[in-house]
Parts: sequence; C-alpha cells; structure tokens
Amino acid sequence: MASVAPPNVVNISDLRRLAERRLPRAVFDYIDGGADGEVTLAENTRVFDTVTFRPRCAVAIPQCELGTTVLGMPVSMPILLAPVGSSRMFYPRGEEVAAQQAGLAGTIYILSTLSGCRLEDVKRATSGPAWYQLYLVGGRDAARAAIARAKAAGFSALVVTIDTPVAGLRERDVRNGTKELLARTPGMFQHLWQFLARPGWLLDTLGDGGLMKFPNVVPPETGQPFPYADITVALEQTTVTWDDMGWIREAWGGPIIIKGVLTGDDARRAVDEGASAVVVSNHGARQLDTVSSTLRALPEVVAAVQGRTEVLMDGGVRRGGDVAKAICLGARAVLVGRAYAYGLGAGGGAGVARAIEILKSDYTRTLKLLGCPGTSDLDRSYIDVPTSWKSQ
Ligand SMILES: Cc1cc2nc3c(=O)[nH]c(=O)nc-3n(C[C@H](O)[C@H](O)[C@H](O)COP(=O)(O)O)c2cc1C
Repeated sequence: MASVAPPNVVNISDLRRLAERRLPRAVFDYIDGGADGEVTLAENTRVFDTVTFRPRCAVAIPQCELGTTVLGMPVSMPILLAPVGSSRMFYPRGEEVAAQQAGLAGTIYILSTLSGCRLEDVKRATSGPAWYQLYLVGGRDAARAAIARAKAAGFSALVVTIDTPVAGLRERDVRNGTKELLARTPGMFQHLWQFLARPGWLLDTLGDGGLMKFPNVVPPETGQPFPYADITVALEQTTVTWDDMGWIREAWGGPIIIKGVLTGDDARRAVDEGASAVVVSNHGARQLDTVSSTLRALPEVVAAVQGRTEVLMDGGVRRGGDVAKAICLGARAVLVGRAYAYGLGAGGGAGVARAIEILKSDYTRTLKLLGCPGTSDLDRSYIDVPTSWKSQ
C-alpha cells in the first residue's frame, strides 16, 4: 500500500488519487460518483470557492480553540465522520477502522444502516461517541430491531436520512456493472476484470469474511442479514416519511437528527417533529441531481430554524477552509463523507487518520490566518458571499 504520509499525501485529492489506484473501478466510482450528470456533485465543492474570506490581520493567535459541542457532546473539532454505506468494501472491517480513527481524533463517527460490520463491533471499536444512521430497509420491524440494538450498544443519537425514497441514478455504477456484480448474475462476468486488476484489494477483501450482507438489517421474517443485491428495491419499498417520525422517536427515546434537509420548509417540519439537529445535505450529490449545493442551502435553513435546533451540514468539504466557511454561515459542525472514504480506500486506518489530520491542520491554519481565536468566534463577518446570495 502506498504511503499516506507527506510529501506523497498533502491534501484530500492526493488520498483520492491513491484510492483510485488501490480500489477496483466499481468500488472507486461508487465512492467518487454522483447522480445523473453530476452537476450538483461539482457544485458542492465549487461553491466553497465562491465564498471569500475577510481576515483580521496583525492578530496573534498562538493557540486556537477548535473544539465545540454537538448536541451537548464535546468534539475536538467541528468535523464529524458521515455515514458511508458499504465502507467494508473499501477496506477490511472498514466501518470499525473508520470509527476507531474518529474516536482517536476526538470526534463522532456516524454508522450507516448499510454497514458491512455489526453495529456492536463498530461501537466497541471507537473510544468516542457514535451515532446510528437509520434507513427503513427490510421494513419497520427490522428497523425497530436495529434501533434497539443501537440503543443497547451505546449509540448516542439516531440520524434519520430523509432524502432516499429511491436510490439515485449513479451512471458510473451502471457502466461498471455494479448491480450485476453485487447480485452475482451472469452479467457480472464482463465486469470482473476490475477486481483482477487490483490484486492487493482483492486479497484484502477475500481475507475479510462477511461481505455481501448488511448485518444490522435483519428482517424478523428471515432472521438473516439483508443481502446487498436486494438493496435498491428495498429502499423504494421503505420510504421514510414524516409520519414515521412518531414511532421512530418513541422506539429510540433519545436525540434524533434529520439528515437531508435542503429547504427552510423541511427544516421547520423537522423542528416540529422534535429533531435535536438537522443536517443540510444532498447526500453528497448522489440522489437528486441539480438540487442546490449544500453551502448555498445552509443560510435558508439556519434562518428558518431560528436557533431552535442545531444545524449541521455536509457535502463537498475537502479543506479546512471549507469547514470554516460552513461554520461562518451558521453550521454547528460539518460531516465529511468522501474525504475520509478516500483515505480508507487508500490506506485503511492510516488513510482515515491522514484525512482527519489534513482537515484539522488546514482548519487550524485557517483560523490563525483569519485572526480568529476559535470555532465559537467564527461568524459572517469573516466571509463575503457572492452578491447574488445577498439579494434574497
Ligand atoms: C460512498 C458513499 C456512501 C454513502 N452512504 C450513505 C448512507 O448509507 N447513508 C446516508 O445517510 N448517507 C450516505 N452517504 C452520504 C454521506 O453521509 C454524506 O451526506 C456525503 O458523503 C457528504 O458529501 P461529501 O462526500 O462530499 O463529504 C454516502 C456517501 C458516499 C460518498
């Protein structure tokens, strides 16, 4: 495996390049790709460059206070690891490896329902807090069982993702034959070369038992972990709606975070449903293409909730400066998905640690260059937004 240390890896794009080298095409594109024409995918990152900084110079900031709290939980920096399904395809025991690194860095790991590792093992792997992300795949009873297990295992918040009534069309996955490969239909044979071209990954993966199943989705009818192959159809059959929030809240009995909010209307609805936080998210541009970039949607959501709930955001965060801009626009913290997924694919735990380290040191440097003493001091006065944003 290639070194993830500098000078080989200086930024997140370097981790992306190494992940592309180690992972089969279908796996890399599963991480890297977006929906349809990937318009929002490009916009999620580009928008950060349209917001400019307004530094306060000749200010000495020897020590920055990066830490904050999210739902009252202290974190060492306002950067959390987003739920990324099937991380175990990127590296052996991928979810456990990523959770461990989040804990070591003093931040929160959010485990996807579509994890390849058992939620109990993931929770044990981290010394920090962990949240469980909920889809209703496999049906309500399977979701209830997962909620009960997550509660018993010590997950401290439930993240309900509301932007996935159907899987987005990821054109790269279609071209790579991802569905055929997962379902192991005869159509897979023309796509197998991708795995043979990456023998290192193949050996790692063959040595890691338990692939091709979701061990946290166990429908009582079968008593068996849900198979990968059936997931697209299952998502469509189990759309989460506002009507579900009542029973989910009751079953969980703890803080609920609604992920996938892009408008003030949905944000207000989430508050009415008792959400402790919302995540402004377009699912990393993997669902509905040409929705707004998340940074652009953030001010509307922040204004709509009027401080009644915490606002988190994700999408396109690749640098510490991006983190600072999101905080200036009212986010309590950001979630990163691909930034650490590239790291996991490039170099397992060392790659995730490197991704976190890059973002953290970038963020620290940004605060110092801004002349800002800490996360809680960041506000709109440190940035300028495009004129077109101001007229609304
Ligand atoms: C490969 C991949 C898998 C994902 N799986 C899930 C998931 O299972 N559940 C979920 O709520 N979000 C999922 N997401 C979305 C992330 O939680 C997050 O919203 C997104 O990655 C943020 O954008 P970024 O990748 O640009 O940081 C996934 C994202 C990626 C890249």
